[in-house]
Amino acid sequence: MALLKIVHYPDPRLHKVAQPIATVDDEIRTLVADMAETMYAAPGIGLAATQVDRHVRLILVDISESKDALQVFINPEIIATSGQSEHEEGCLSVPGIYDTVTRPERIRVRALDSRGQPFEREADGLLAVCIQHEIDHLDGKVFVEYLSRLKQERIRKKLLKQAREVM
Ligand code: NI
Repeated sequence: MALLKIVHYPDPRLHKVAQPIATVDDEIRTLVADMAETMYAAPGIGLAATQVDRHVRLILVDISESKDALQVFINPEIIATSGQSEHEEGCLSVPGIYDTVTRPERIRVRALDSRGQPFEREADGLLAVCIQHEIDHLDGKVFVEYLSRLKQERIRKKLLKQAREVM
């Protein structure tokens, strides 16, 4: 396994649209293992392949306290939504920034698991937020894009300044 480098906003690579995965093979399973290690080390509760500069439709989520309930979604699709709720979100690609985003409260998602088997599941609460946030990454969207232009500009400047300071 290997730790992967997480791309930080406003890097343009975060706006690439990820391609569907045709075959769930060992290469994909290695990426899953590396992404899981990277997510737990960060630490984070979700990670999309886009964030490690791999533009394929793969997301990982683990919202458990014990960090032992990894959920893998390959080619995930939200097939139904209902309700609306607000949650404070953060993102490993936007370190130190947290803000409130409104999204559907409940979702039904269809995907392949790490063996390539199709499954569907329903989610609400934090899990629903997390899955939607990660699927957005696959579509080239970062959560700050739900915020006002002014906030986005402030966040962009702050992160560019941070990036300059660590160089
Ligand atoms: Ni994120």
